[in-house]
Amino acid sequence: MKIISAEFVTSAVGPKQFPEDDRPQVAFSGRSNVGKSSLINAFLNRKSLVKTSATPGKTQLLNFFLINNEFYCVDLPGYGYAKAPRSVVDAWAPMIEGYIKDSPQIRVVVVLLDIRREPDERDRRLIDWLAHYGVPALFVLTKADKLKRGEMAQARQSIAKKLGLAGLPLLTSVKTGQGIVELKSEIAKRLNQQPEPVTVS
Ligand code: GTP
Ligand code: MG
Repeated sequence: MKIISAEFVTSAVGPKQFPEDDRPQVAFSGRSNVGKSSLINAFLNRKSLVKTSATPGKTQLLNFFLINNEFYCVDLPGYGYAKAPRSVVDAWAPMIEGYIKDSPQIRVVVVLLDIRREPDERDRRLIDWLAHYGVPALFVLTKADKLKRGEMAQARQSIAKKLGLAGLPLLTSVKTGQGIVELKSEIAKRLNQQPEPVTVS
């Protein structure tokens, strides 16, 4: 899958503002500061299409990006940011659940988990919604560069076990580029598109 164009389309709080066409959608979800916006930029080969921030709680709306005029990438608001205003904290659950429930165009939700953290009850809740509404999930660990190789493997096993995953989550880092090719190829598969050929030199 070659990214030819990527453009911001709209920010939404609820279904009335979602794009109305039936192009497939790939959404990125996970706690605040886990690296959703950064991973979308890496996936799209764009430096700063999506705003990232060292301060958690940057993305508070659902942001839709149209890719190749063919599918949407959706940056979902993060959860679990303790200092977020009450209104934002309260809005998170209905916003995300509403999106998952009302969007048959979703092909996959990429569930991001920080490799250094134990999954918490909000991660669990997200995963339960996906199962409940029959939406496929793709589990991705972010910030792999923060751990040594051995710790990385251990954290991967332990998170998979904790969440009862069938397979191991993908290891990624936007700093080193680890796992980005695999991520692209997994997403292309879910969109029924040809992945980019992997060239071995
Ligand atoms: P919210 O929009 O607040 O929910 O955050 P987000 O999940 O979109 O996170 P964002 O992409 O803004 O990244 C948060 C911080 O983590 C930024 O300072 C990023 O530079 C950093 N970050 C993201 N991915 C990685 C990674 O793979 N490795 C390292 N070391 N830092 C990362
Ligand atoms: Mg963000």
